[in-house]
Amino acid sequence: MGETFYVTTPIYYPSGKFHIGTAYTTVLADSLKRLNKLKGKDCFMLTGTDEHGQKIQEVAQKNNLTPKEYVDKMAEMAQDLWKTMNIDYDYFIRTTEERHEKVIQEIFEKLLKQGDIYKGTYEGMYCVPCETYFTETQLVDGKCPDCGREVRKMQEESYFFNMKKYTDRLLKYYDEHPDFIKPEYRKTEMINNFIKPGLEDLCITRTTFDWGIKVPSDPKHVVYVWLDALFNYLTALGYMSEDDSLYQKFWPANVQIVGKDIARFHLIYWPIFLMALDLPLPKTIFVHNWIMMKDGKMSKSKGNVIYPETLIERYGLDATRYFLLREMPLAQDGIFSPEEFVERYNYDLCNDLSNLLNRTVSMVNRYFEGQVPGKTKNVNDVDEQLEKETIEHINKFNELIDNFEIAESLKEIWKVVSRTNKYIDETSPWKLAKEEEKEKLESSMYHLIENLRKIAILIKPFMNDTADNILRQIGIQDENLKTYDSLLNYQELQNVKVIEKGEPIFMRLNSEEEINYIKEIMKNK
Ligand code: MSP
Repeated sequence: MGETFYVTTPIYYPSGKFHIGTAYTTVLADSLKRLNKLKGKDCFMLTGTDEHGQKIQEVAQKNNLTPKEYVDKMAEMAQDLWKTMNIDYDYFIRTTEERHEKVIQEIFEKLLKQGDIYKGTYEGMYCVPCETYFTETQLVDGKCPDCGREVRKMQEESYFFNMKKYTDRLLKYYDEHPDFIKPEYRKTEMINNFIKPGLEDLCITRTTFDWGIKVPSDPKHVVYVWLDALFNYLTALGYMSEDDSLYQKFWPANVQIVGKDIARFHLIYWPIFLMALDLPLPKTIFVHNWIMMKDGKMSKSKGNVIYPETLIERYGLDATRYFLLREMPLAQDGIFSPEEFVERYNYDLCNDLSNLLNRTVSMVNRYFEGQVPGKTKNVNDVDEQLEKETIEHINKFNELIDNFEIAESLKEIWKVVSRTNKYIDETSPWKLAKEEEKEKLESSMYHLIENLRKIAILIKPFMNDTADNILRQIGIQDENLKTYDSLLNYQELQNVKVIEKGEPIFMRLNSEEEINYIKEIMKNK
């Protein structure tokens, strides 16, 4: 049994509720973890909240709260959201935890002692929301190149991390570990945009505010939020604590998942920090794109924000998760639009999936009183073909998901759904019944149920309840018929009985009404 460790970025959203985009990283990590659990691996998934920094301090003040009171609320909100989204995480780290703070202090002093950290003066243009300094040339129209907001000129005595020392080692590492960065174009981006122009030493302490982890040997300095936050991936596992068994078992992570805006921190600084401490690097860091709106980024002022709860309340969790994962391509941003959401719901979930289940359950009831015929010889002309193509799609699904082509891998599952719908037309069971072709009718029903079983297992990591619902309706109770391993063969279905009356898993939506509903909600919130 292999061990896998999925890590999602701790979230940080000081100015309100978490929008649908912020949930993407975590929903994806959860789905991958569930998939690997289904494959029998021992998994651990980490998430949490990133709680220090100037921005948090300022927002707390505006709300007449202490930073601690503010982050307590933020952490509670995040945990509520993950509960609503059925996220199967193993630990929720908060960067204000004492054990995290203690380890950050020890790491800082260690790096200082070994000469990777030194003291100097920093002057530069600082973006408060991004908590990042920029040089004049990095600014775009005098504003922050990442978020487009105003920057402030600031100067402070600071500690620096000697990034330059590690540049060549990092490039060599990239070169020798082709799986380290996915997709590959992100590596090219890092090399061309940041490494080739020359890595600056990184300023890693602040004296202008105090909501952060203090440097033990010089307590007027607090540790820069990124140095603090990145190490959550280790402290959550008990690294440098009395009990580091989880760290021993799960580090290095198999996959760390991050959004594109924070790729630089995870692909350059994070590996360098680990190298400086002689620690192993995560095997893969996967960088995903963003969920955007038709008119660009989600923002309250544009009135185009969509919150996960809104969609979940009205359309259910699984439809929401399906949409998120299905709409994010590997090579560019995904777009949320009410039209697209309703269309996917009506076509993919209702017409294709829900109807396939309904038609099948009602035919098995009509022709065999609900009793599913066990494995039969392939007797319809199209049986072989259906089996062959289904297995090909499953193999392709595995290949795509291993390469993080998430949207494509969901499309591949839906190819099985469409192919199975086509099989109903090809075998025309109603004709077989009329012509009393019992053997052929049995084979048709067997293949439909068996393919629905496969579809349920394939969608389970992404849409857990829908999968369970399908398995229940088609009468699959034997745990051996619910495993990932059972997918690749056409199994014997002994004593399987479908429920007497099928229940639709997704009901057709009135497109116009629902599109307007979502648009209104976006405007009002
Ligand atoms: N706290 C930092 C991460 C620290 S890692 C040591 C952070 N938090 S965040 O709340 O702003 O973002 C959380 C995750 O959501 C990030 O991976 C970010 O890239 C991702 N997303 C934020 N907006 C997004 C979309 N609109 N779409 C998809 N993902 C998005 O960054």
